[in-house]
Amino acid sequence: MKTIVLGFVLFGLHLVMPAAFAQGFAAYSGEELYQRFCGSCHGPEGRGDGPVASSLSVLVPDLTRLYQRRGNRFPAAEIRDVIDGRSVVIAHGTRFMPVWGYEFWVEEGADVVAEEEARIMIDRLVNFLESIQYAMDPADPVP
Ligand code: HEC
Repeated sequence: MKTIVLGFVLFGLHLVMPAAFAQGFAAYSGEELYQRFCGSCHGPEGRGDGPVASSLSVLVPDLTRLYQRRGNRFPAAEIRDVIDGRSVVIAHGTRFMPVWGYEFWVEEGADVVAEEEARIMIDRLVNFLESIQYAMDPADPVP
């Protein structure tokens, strides 16, 4: 009986404040999200040299060169889809990077609110990546 009551109480709490339980990372800035979820592979500064990178059988891309590699444009929508990963059809080979759209959705509670939060988190990451592009701003010092 106690368990049932406790179950109801917990379920009730879940209904009242789902966001409070979940919202782990939704308040993080783009840079904080990056350091928490991406830096291990892509490196603290996005250069593709994170501690996990050398243990992968593929090269981890330098994320500061997206602009340069795409012919001096930053394809925000494409980058967004790559990070989300759920709509990207893998033409060939395997995807080594986690499907972040799914990871963030689960992390935030796997409901409708979580879906919106996952979208916002990915947008913040895209904006952060845009801010670290090499040579995007002509005034940038050459690293
Ligand atoms: C487990 C290591 C790993 C983690 C963690 C990781 N990535 Fe990746 N990422 C890769 C690899 C490897 C690739 C190359 C494509 C592939 O093999 O999946 C890649 C590709 C990318 C690309 C495409 C680069 C290009 O040139 O098109 C972007 C953008 C990207 N990652 C962003 C992120 C972001 C943002 C995060 C954190 C939310 C992240 N990655 C976390 C390993 C990782």
